[in-house]
Amino acid sequence: MSPQESRGLPGLTGVLVATGLVAAVAIAAGVRYAAVPPGGSSDAASPTAPANSGLERPRPPRPVTDVPDHATEEYGRRLVAQTVELIGPDHPDPARRFTGARLNCASCHLATGTDPGTLALLQTAEHYPRFSGRSGAMTDVEDRINECMQRSMNGKPLPLDSPEMIAMAAYLRSLGSRYEAMGASLKKADEPPAFKTPSRAADVPAGARVYVERCAACHGGDGLGLLATGDRAKGYLFPPLWGPDSFNDGAGMHRVLTAARFIKARMPLGEPTLTDDEAFDVAAFINSKPRPEMPNLHVDYPDRSTKPVDNPYGPFADDFPAEQHQYGPFPPIEAYYKSLKKTK
Ligand code: HEC
Ligand code: HEC
Repeated sequence: MSPQESRGLPGLTGVLVATGLVAAVAIAAGVRYAAVPPGGSSDAASPTAPANSGLERPRPPRPVTDVPDHATEEYGRRLVAQTVELIGPDHPDPARRFTGARLNCASCHLATGTDPGTLALLQTAEHYPRFSGRSGAMTDVEDRINECMQRSMNGKPLPLDSPEMIAMAAYLRSLGSRYEAMGASLKKADEPPAFKTPSRAADVPAGARVYVERCAACHGGDGLGLLATGDRAKGYLFPPLWGPDSFNDGAGMHRVLTAARFIKARMPLGEPTLTDDEAFDVAAFINSKPRPEMPNLHVDYPDRSTKPVDNPYGPFADDFPAEQHQYGPFPPIEAYYKSLKKTK
């Protein structure tokens, strides 16, 4: 088989799987969004949220008259599926260029977030408002979308009153009722057992070998992906894993454990059969590669002790070397923070 063939074949299967899922769950078009303040109860707030942090920013409900006709749930779904085309860096109208990466939201949130399991967006509405350790404030669905816009998509935040933000938030909120309506068997994620963190440091050269054997056929030997057509404004058939069109170094996917969880659950697309060790090493390999840099990462996590153990950039609230935060071993760092909590 020529390299081109070996690259195309598994890909097509993957794409068929992916588009089949999208089509199967495609929602009825044209539901007009009347802005509702995010779902009432704060039960879903993160367990780390102080009961009365006083940081919640009340946002007045948007008058319905401000909502443009095209800001529908269906437009929101298309924005998640075809982000590059609709608000990517090659958009003919410079005012519509919001993302820097040439990824779609659905490159990570598979089947536009409707596939139950890792990085599904089906229950997102229930998760907000919540306290975000990263920003040190209460956040809504809209804030979270903009976090992925600035990090995973290496772009600019969408204005809160833009049709694109209104539509995407409406789409994500609509998934909640869809999830409710799904039967128990459909809600169950069809995934391998969840990733368990190995007790050793990740082995980048071993990850490079996993990459060549299990990933390069689709994502390319150079990790730069494969464009869908000759026109890069249409985005990628197989998205890049590093390089200028990929997520930036402030993204969740740039954390080795977050990436390993996703990779073990979802990759290779259509055939997720990696062991914990393989997923761990290949995640470290990908994240050892160059990618866009996000400015001012040092201001993330104003309370440094809330930084996830695999957050690869400082400053840290502990004395473990930066390299250990990037590649592990992670259990000693976890144990350290657990012991701090006990002594409190
Ligand atoms: C490179 C991969 C990647 C891309 C591309 C991406 N995201 Fe995410 N997204 C993540 C990760 C990782 C998380 C964090 C999951 C966690 O904390 O467990 C996340 C979380 C979210 C959440 C919070 C979900 C919840 O229930 O709390 C929302 C909402 C979201 N993303 C929306 C988007 C939107 C909209 C886009 C496109 C504009 C996008 N994401 C693009 C990786 C990605
Ligand atoms: C059969 C082709 C195929 C193989 C093999 C494959 N992927 Fe993917 N991968 C995809 C596609 C397609 C997407 C985007 C999801 C979509 O469009 O439904 C994706 C998305 C991703 C993403 C999130 C988006 C991004 O660009 O960062 C990561 C990370 C990833 N793959 C890692 C891997 C790793 C690691 C391996 C090897 C263990 C692998 N993939 C093997 C097809 C593949």
